[in-house]
Amino acid sequence: MATPPTIYVLNGPNLNLLGTREPEIYGAETLDEIAGALEDRARELGLAIDMRQSNHEGHLIDWLHEAGAEGARAVILNAGAFTHSSIALYDAIRAIPVPVIEVHLSNPQAREPFRRRSYVAAAAKGSISGFGALGYQLALDAAASL
Ligand code: DQA
Repeated sequence: MATPPTIYVLNGPNLNLLGTREPEIYGAETLDEIAGALEDRARELGLAIDMRQSNHEGHLIDWLHEAGAEGARAVILNAGAFTHSSIALYDAIRAIPVPVIEVHLSNPQAREPFRRRSYVAAAAKGSISGFGALGYQLALDAAASL
């Protein structure tokens, strides 16, 4: 059987702590629970997901390059706080031919002023914010329709 198209789901710093990290902002679901639900939805859509998390900016950049080299269908990216600081991530997104969908659990626009700038949004195909873990599912549906 042919391998289904792959969606990389890349998660940045502190997202390994989901479930216990400020649950009033980020919800009670762990990253593993989010991954499980995404895998179920991906199967329904005839897609495969490759879900990863790192606290290191360079890993996210290397994985974006890999998604480009491997011909991933799309990347779903929650870059955490690197969203607001990383020109290197902006450059990496622009350097690959794969559409990148930005996701945030919270709505950064409605929080501290330093979260209002997104270098990811400036290079991404589109953004989904403020819907908690549901945002990952919405992003997967968007990826499937690209
Ligand atoms: C976040 C929002 C960022 O501002 C924050 O630094 C995070 C999580 C979110 O998913 O809501 O780490 O990306």
